[in-house]
Amino acid sequence: MSNDHPHSGIADPRVTAVIERLQAARRRPAGGGPRGGSGSRDPHDHAEQGFSIHPEQGELIYLLCRGLRATRVAEFATSIGMSTLYFAAAIRDNGGGTVIGSEIVPAKVATARRNLADAGLAEYAEIREGDARQTLRDLGGPVDFILIDGWPGSTGPSLARQVIEIVAPQLRVGGYVMNDNAETDFLEFVRDPENGFVSITLPLKGGTELSLKVA
Ligand SMILES: C[S@@+](CC[C@H](N)C(=O)[O-])C[C@H]1O[C@@H](n2cnc3c(N)ncnc32)[C@H](O)[C@@H]1O
Repeated sequence: MSNDHPHSGIADPRVTAVIERLQAARRRPAGGGPRGGSGSRDPHDHAEQGFSIHPEQGELIYLLCRGLRATRVAEFATSIGMSTLYFAAAIRDNGGGTVIGSEIVPAKVATARRNLADAGLAEYAEIREGDARQTLRDLGGPVDFILIDGWPGSTGPSLARQVIEIVAPQLRVGGYVMNDNAETDFLEFVRDPENGFVSITLPLKGGTELSLKVA
């Protein structure tokens, strides 16, 4: 089986069709990504690019959220909604609930909402437009899973570190955090036992950190 087309735990063809469409349209930014040396770090300069999680990460999100019986989850950030689709599918298949998304580029929020509607999952997602450091401050109660799939900042603590400090207290014990970009100061946070997580690095997309809240 090729990694490009992993077996999907998601049974709904309407959902998998949208995921496959986004996957087929994935492309590298012409002027370099925000993590490259020359690429702009302003997210508004990358409104056309998804920078989405890979299918194997999405499949793991779906499976873990089904196992947790997750009904409330959050993500930094949403982009065009690839990760949101996996979360919303799991929540719908668990019987209902909400994925709280966050995205600073308005055009991406619109695209993500369209993708969720195409998949028949619009009612399971609430995408908050704006800076996640504000929009994720109050998740309205405990959440079961948080994705930290952020963006390179310029100086000081990474956005991933800033956002995990805001959302970690809102994650229930027994809930998971997944991180895509291995920001050093984020890894320091989840690997410090003082912060209540046990954490492992999975060999997905070159290193995906999965952290379980234990205290
Ligand atoms: C790696 S992408 C997220 C991909 C998404 N999880 C998926 O799988 O499709 C990171 C996103 O963070 C957004 N972003 C950057 N800074 C932000 C901020 N301060 N608040 C909210 N979103 C932000 C960018 O516009 C970009 O779309």
